[in-house]
Amino acid sequence: MARRFDAIEGIGALELNVSCPNIKEGGAQFGTDVQLLAQVVAACRRATSLPLITKLSPNVVSIAPYARAAAEAGSDALAIMNSYPAMAIDIQTRKPRLANVTGGLTGPCIKPIAIKLVWEAAAAVKIPIIGMGGIQNAADAIEFLMAGASAVAVGTATFYEPQTAFQVLAGVKDFLRRQGLRDVRELVGAVLAQPARD
Ligand SMILES: Cc1cc2nc3c(=O)[nH]c(=O)nc-3n(C[C@H](O)[C@H](O)[C@H](O)COP(=O)(O)O)c2cc1C
Repeated sequence: MARRFDAIEGIGALELNVSCPNIKEGGAQFGTDVQLLAQVVAACRRATSLPLITKLSPNVVSIAPYARAAAEAGSDALAIMNSYPAMAIDIQTRKPRLANVTGGLTGPCIKPIAIKLVWEAAAAVKIPIIGMGGIQNAADAIEFLMAGASAVAVGTATFYEPQTAFQVLAGVKDFLRRQGLRDVRELVGAVLAQPARD
């Protein structure tokens, strides 16, 4: 696929989702096995000259080795985080609420998990990180930037408020102005905490 996309005009980058919770084999496994992860990133690296973004799984004890493996195998950036595997049960019918039985948890409840993962990965690698997980407003986005993300993405919030990304952008600009900062990069990794060791 990477090779085929490489030949198509107008594609800016490829994101490797090595953390899909909805596929039985080859989805989440890629993202929870350091060697498999390195292999899939390296294979895609050989197949394309497009920028490669690797979307990492949150379902790991420490994300640092995975971040390093993706960077060393040639990933240009990381996307953190994907949804967290989860399940809910309808107590009246006793049936799982999702047709697939389990599925990916997203939205505000995963934000603290995502912030921690971004912070750990930022201490482990030099390549840029796109942070996501529960961003609903500018304050959420700024948290990700301070944890070490260079860019952010909005998923779930877009479903109930399609303007969210624009509101986040306006709010970040306003925060910069009020803080007397000229460049959003001044916020990247600005959290006052020692980097985690793994
Ligand atoms: C309906 C839905 C579908 C998603 N599909 C994908 C997907 O196909 N590939 C992927 O990498 N992430 C997928 N995600 C995960 C999001 O890209 C994002 O990583 C995650 O939802 C956390 O961000 P959020 O809390 O802002 O939604 C999906 C999320 C939702 C809610």
